[in-house]
Amino acid sequence: MHNPELMAAKISSHPRAACGFSDAAAQVRAYHQRTKHMPGHYAPGPGYMDWANQPDPFRRFSGAPTVVLPLVRDDGTPPYDALFQTKGTPPRPLTAESLGIFLELSLGLTAWKEFQGTRWSLRSNPSSGNLHPTEGYVVLPALAVVSDRPGVYHYAPYEHTLAQRCVLGEAAWGAFAAGLPAGTFLVGLTSVHWREAWKYGERAYRYCQHDMGHALGAMCFAGAALGWRMALLSALSDAEVAALLGVDRATDFTGVEAEHPGLIAAVVTDPAAAAPRALAEGAIAAVRAGHWTGSANRLSPERIDWTAISAVEDATVKPSTALLPLRGLATSGVPSPRPTRDVSRAAEIIRQRRSAVDMDGRTGLSLDSFFGMLARTLPDRPHSPWTAIDFPARILLSLFVHRIDGLSPGLYVLMRDESRLDAFRAACHDGFAWKRVEASAMPLYALALGDCRQAAAHASCFQAIAGDGAFSLGMVADFMRTLEEDGAWAYRRLFWETGLIGQVLYLEAEAAGVRSTGMGCYFDDFLHQLLDINLAEDAWQSLYHFTVGGAVEDKRLTTLPAYGHLSRAKLAV
Ligand SMILES: Cc1cc2nc3c(=O)[nH]c(=O)nc-3n(C[C@H](O)[C@H](O)[C@H](O)COP(=O)(O)O)c2cc1C
Repeated sequence: MHNPELMAAKISSHPRAACGFSDAAAQVRAYHQRTKHMPGHYAPGPGYMDWANQPDPFRRFSGAPTVVLPLVRDDGTPPYDALFQTKGTPPRPLTAESLGIFLELSLGLTAWKEFQGTRWSLRSNPSSGNLHPTEGYVVLPALAVVSDRPGVYHYAPYEHTLAQRCVLGEAAWGAFAAGLPAGTFLVGLTSVHWREAWKYGERAYRYCQHDMGHALGAMCFAGAALGWRMALLSALSDAEVAALLGVDRATDFTGVEAEHPGLIAAVVTDPAAAAPRALAEGAIAAVRAGHWTGSANRLSPERIDWTAISAVEDATVKPSTALLPLRGLATSGVPSPRPTRDVSRAAEIIRQRRSAVDMDGRTGLSLDSFFGMLARTLPDRPHSPWTAIDFPARILLSLFVHRIDGLSPGLYVLMRDESRLDAFRAACHDGFAWKRVEASAMPLYALALGDCRQAAAHASCFQAIAGDGAFSLGMVADFMRTLEEDGAWAYRRLFWETGLIGQVLYLEAEAAGVRSTGMGCYFDDFLHQLLDINLAEDAWQSLYHFTVGGAVEDKRLTTLPAYGHLSRAKLAV
């Protein structure tokens, strides 16, 4: 019987570690191995729900001045399909109002659910277990209503407010803004790993990274709805990200749960300006020397330190890295937008996004819808979120097709990086057909036809939604190559990429009148065995599962408005 912990121990002392394959990459591989779910053997976790220590999903900074953001219900965002057009959405100027829309549509609340006296909120960004480890920050110039001084702010989704963590003087801002086009601001994301670890134990670190990818995707789409572009500042080290967002300020986090640095991206509001790729020399030092206020709240009375998580955190610390070549974006072969497909406003689709908890096992999708959704996950498409990132595509989709009109059910693969076709094909079962689905005009291949509803559910920890949707999928990473070529920290980036793909599928499903669900619970090696991938090599690893189909609503739940708890929400039109 395969024993993941034994395997993990073997990997961390693998001879490769002694011949150039870094210790950090070996640690990552070992973590990945020991956090695999297997039937009857789940990754180590607490084994029960410790309700007394349930983490507060809302971080606050006491002592930091609060800025109230407007809540605007009728926000005039363009039709949903405009999110996928390069040009056309008139850019909104950066104001407190547009910033409020941006944050609401990316990290804000979208609804409250209630069942038998218990209430919980949902947000624009999805999150494993609805635990929301991701915290959002903005670095702003002086902005009317917000402040007459530039600064660093933490976003509080419950109140829809900003906590002013740092105020910058004019000279400091001058140093900071030197490399940024006018009207540009920065967003930052961090992660409180404990929020996920509370429920999921060792595997939680993976979910935090998925969630960060989703949050980045949500920001890209919220920006696109306002005519803004995002650009990930991918060269920054974790130390620089932490310094810029103030999460390395030990005195502000004394005795409370740490926030781990995630990423920084520039949001460019002027369509004529080139997206920056780095910060000016001295920018971080200028912010570090700013005037900081506020202390982070404690989220749980007590917490467990999961040593496997601490080890993988250490192994995946990002150093500063060289600028990556800009992505090649498709200039032809991009299907023209399907204008009449959905006329809902972008904001409506974003606000109505939900995870399906049950699928009807009946609803299918047209071939056009299916191909359209997949096309928008391709990394060379000149639209959000792919224009925001510069890192190479390392995730392919292994699809279980159940009910797509005009496409035989079976196992398919979408090679998001077609140059890896031969390598992946060589790694898989040699009896697969690899018949290109020409009608899709994409690198989509049929491997084996047949009813794979049971296999899909089995692969996703026996979750019925994976078999009862129109299709489901496993996102398979070019795993060892990424660790070897890009370093151990790129483990995180692989999950971010899966989150970006997931965010596209979440919105696409809503726009197509169906629903979807990200599935972090899956049996890792089940999919590998199905594809007949060598289990000992870890060359290709499944990192995230997803299902799309006709959702069945849980009628027992009551839905309440997102910001009904705020008196100013009643004033919003
Ligand atoms: C990384 C990730 C993993 C998830 N895993 C599962 C899963 O295995 N099964 C499931 O039913 N839902 C899963 N979900 C859906 C979450 O439960 C859902 O996002 C959360 O409850 C918030 O609800 P919402 O998406 O409707 O806003 C996952 C979501 C994310 C982002």
